Amino acid sequence: MAYVPSSDRYDSMKYNRCGNSGLQLPAISLGLWHNFGSVDVFENGRAIVRRAFDRGITHFDLANNYGPVPGSAEENFGIMLAKDFPGYLRDELIISSKAGYLMWPGPYGEWGSRKYLISSCNQSLKRMGLDYVDIFYSHRPDPNTPLEETMMALDTIVRQGKALYIGLSNYDAVQAKKAIEILKSLGTPCLIHQPKYSMFVRDAEAGLLDVLGEYGVGCIPFSPLAQGLLTDRYLKGIPEDSRAAKSWGFLKAGEITEEKLHKIIDLNDLAKKRGQSLAQMALAWLLKDRRVTTVLIGASSVQQLDNNLGALDNLAFTSEELAAIEKILRS
Ligand SMILES: NC(=O)c1ccc[n+]([C@@H]2O[C@H](COP(=O)([O-])OP(=O)(O)OC[C@H]3O[C@@H](n4cnc5c(N)ncnc54)[C@H](OP(=O)(O)O)[C@@H]3O)[C@@H](O)[C@H]2O)c1
Repeated sequence: MAYVPSSDRYDSMKYNRCGNSGLQLPAISLGLWHNFGSVDVFENGRAIVRRAFDRGITHFDLANNYGPVPGSAEENFGIMLAKDFPGYLRDELIISSKAGYLMWPGPYGEWGSRKYLISSCNQSLKRMGLDYVDIFYSHRPDPNTPLEETMMALDTIVRQGKALYIGLSNYDAVQAKKAIEILKSLGTPCLIHQPKYSMFVRDAEAGLLDVLGEYGVGCIPFSPLAQGLLTDRYLKGIPEDSRAAKSWGFLKAGEITEEKLHKIIDLNDLAKKRGQSLAQMALAWLLKDRRVTTVLIGASSVQQLDNNLGALDNLAFTSEELAAIEKILRS
């Protein structure tokens, strides 16, 4: 059946301005790192993307290497765009891609050189069948390439019309500040930063969020559910179809320690008292910080996506609840 987007798709989503820019992003964005590669069921991924758009998620996040196999998530997304999102819908979508991690052999297939970034952007556009992406990211800082070269390559990509905005990912506070200043001097302001940030991974609080707030750069935390740990997924062991059980999944079973499980159980109880799932509480907890523009979730089913979107029904925390969460996380 041909896909017809829901006519009420913009009625219940919350849109937040991305830093000081003119761009608004949905409070929840969808990432295609896992569950959309050539090892996954295409129709499942397609259903998730359709449902996301129907519920106001306009922002889809990809990277050159998403799969497995690397590149296959962009290829699959390109097929979905061609089948379900005909030309006129392109202007309702924010599509991101990135380059930084290993994508092809040889000295030009990873990191932050001008050669790699521009070639990789061209490849991503081809895989997705797009003329431009909305946001193109440097996926990680490169200790061996001058920061100026990496930023100038991003600026070139924008000036060539291959991306509308630039983002940074995995840069620490000091690196981000320098990169943001270089981009500003080039006339291509940094739109957004994508750090790993969740209740379990809080490095961003040690300076990075302050830099982003100071410079008016948006923030899109990735793995906000700690790859599924901050949900009810692992409360009763490791399900066969879960990320931790898959040989290609980035979450390793060994990461689900007794200590972590205790915290997950206590957090889950607290979420229940708030009338939320743990996943919903974990997302709301990130969105309480006004510097956080949108949370970048993953989902392996439409049900998970719907559950996560329910976070928007209760974003407020009492000081007692916040203190109780801190106590559990520090226990
Ligand atoms: N910039 C970077 O370096 C970087 C790195 C990593 C990710 N990212 C981006 O961030 C996106 C999200 O990362 P992520 O997938 O790790 O995010 P996440 O939201 O922390 O984890 C997603 C996983 O959690 C489980 N899950 C989600 N909702 C659930 C629910 N309501 N109930 C139970 N389980 C639920 C699912 O696991 P199961 O598969 O087990 O069902 C799902 O695949 C990626 O797609 C990518 O776009 C960026």
